[in-house]
Amino acid sequence: MTSLPHEAASMTDIIACSGAAAKVIDGKAAAAAVDAAVAEGVRQITPTLGRIPCLAVVLVGQNPASALYVRNKIRRAEAVGMRSVQHRLSADVNQKTIIDLIRQLNTDAGVDGILVQLPLPAGLDGARVVQSLDPTKDVDGLTSRNAGALVLGAAGIRPCTPSGCVFLARRTLGDLTGKSVVVIGRSILVGKPATLLFLAENCTVTLTHSRTGDLPRICRQADIVVAAVGRPGLVKGSWIKPGALVIDVGINRIDSKDGQSRLVGDVDFESAIETAGFITPAPGGVGPMTIAMLLVNTVAAASHRAGLDVPDPVAAVLPR
Ligand code: GUN
Repeated sequence: MTSLPHEAASMTDIIACSGAAAKVIDGKAAAAAVDAAVAEGVRQITPTLGRIPCLAVVLVGQNPASALYVRNKIRRAEAVGMRSVQHRLSADVNQKTIIDLIRQLNTDAGVDGILVQLPLPAGLDGARVVQSLDPTKDVDGLTSRNAGALVLGAAGIRPCTPSGCVFLARRTLGDLTGKSVVVIGRSILVGKPATLLFLAENCTVTLTHSRTGDLPRICRQADIVVAAVGRPGLVKGSWIKPGALVIDVGINRIDSKDGQSRLVGDVDFESAIETAGFITPAPGGVGPMTIAMLLVNTVAAASHRAGLDVPDPVAAVLPR
């Protein structure tokens, strides 16, 4: 087994796969380390706050995947000692009702973070709903103020999934300065903020998307590939520079030959594992880290709003 490039990553969170080149990164183990640091933060601020930090989650409609994500977010929030409140609205709700609910949560002194699970059902304007969030409670980091702060490198709440990608990259490779990163996908939730977050780590970042010409050639230059384009198995092993880190953000449901459906990422895992040095599985890689970063953002929002100074859980797990 090759030695680990960065001592912060332990053998328990990188599973060696016999016969394959890449080591598979265990996102659940990495997320558990962050959750433990968040739980410590919750314990520290609760007495001064005089109440338990609280995450409010808004779920509109019956999308089974969204319902599952929300259940996991609430379960993990409660596991680190937070309170959670869930608001479920039917798919035919009108936009004003959602925005009125958010305004109420914005002014509720007992709520520290608000998350509106996306996408919203057809006919609702997700972007407008997100903009109605109080930026100090926007624990997804999607409001204009937080997105602008990310562009400017100013203080603000950073989006969860791309923060989770950077965390996994730092935990696996250590200092990312000078690394070449190719991000595939230009979404507001992942691709665009991931580009800026890796740039803030002094990486050289190329943002690509479904219309980019000769994607395989561009990918082959990358030390780190972040696949977030929503195309099952798009990224092949032949696109990967030997030894590179592959972070698969995709979660796509596809029909299997046996009539069942299963979840696959944007990376063709079987071929990529042969070329990559490190690879995240999908599911089980980035997904757990997204929730860990949501909890980091919520405890930070609770402490900032109360004027408290709580140690950053990410810095506790991964000191610079
Ligand atoms: N849908 C898929 N991922 C996310 C996320 O990170 N936040 C929200 N609000 N919705 C999502």
